[in-house]
Amino acid sequence: MSNASQVLLERVRDIPDFPRPGVLFKDLNPLFADPDAFALVLGEVASGWEGTIDLVAGIEARGFVVGAALAQRMGVGFLPVRKAGKLPGETIDQTYDLEYGTATIEIPADACEGKRVLLVDDVLATGGTAAAAVSLLERAGATVVGIEFLLEVGFLEGRRLLEGHEVAVVATV
Ligand code: PRP
Repeated sequence: MSNASQVLLERVRDIPDFPRPGVLFKDLNPLFADPDAFALVLGEVASGWEGTIDLVAGIEARGFVVGAALAQRMGVGFLPVRKAGKLPGETIDQTYDLEYGTATIEIPADACEGKRVLLVDDVLATGGTAAAAVSLLERAGATVVGIEFLLEVGFLEGRRLLEGHEVAVVATV
């Protein structure tokens, strides 16, 4: 296990029955609150993609925290993948299935054509959110170079929805 994995795992707070009964929520706020630990983790993530990307895309909301910090560190731009109804101007959207119902995410229509994009989020659970974000970015003309998560919930097998793409994680539980 890398030093970054260990540092991250020491700063994950497990919250039972949130946001619904039966769900064990993985809270990474203790990592974000610790500047040295967060910098160590971002440094490991950045080193895996250095020189291969033009843009970091982060998924609302916690993917914004990871993605914007990572993009700054790597000297590339940041693209927020937003929940529906928040973006002005022309957008494209993608609807995906949740455990109960559906959700929709959006990006500006002209945000990433021809760009090499790294998609990031805090947690990979079922993979539905990230898979929808990948198809949104590809429909907008981007090349998704890779997908990076700080934490993977292994038993949910979210990687299955991301097959054909390079997936990296800092730690798996
Ligand atoms: C969480 C997490 C990922 C997503 C992972 O976000 O930050 O974006 O769920 O789940 P999945 O792999 O099963 O799709 P959430 O929907 O809770 O939104 P938030 O960050 O705005 O709280």
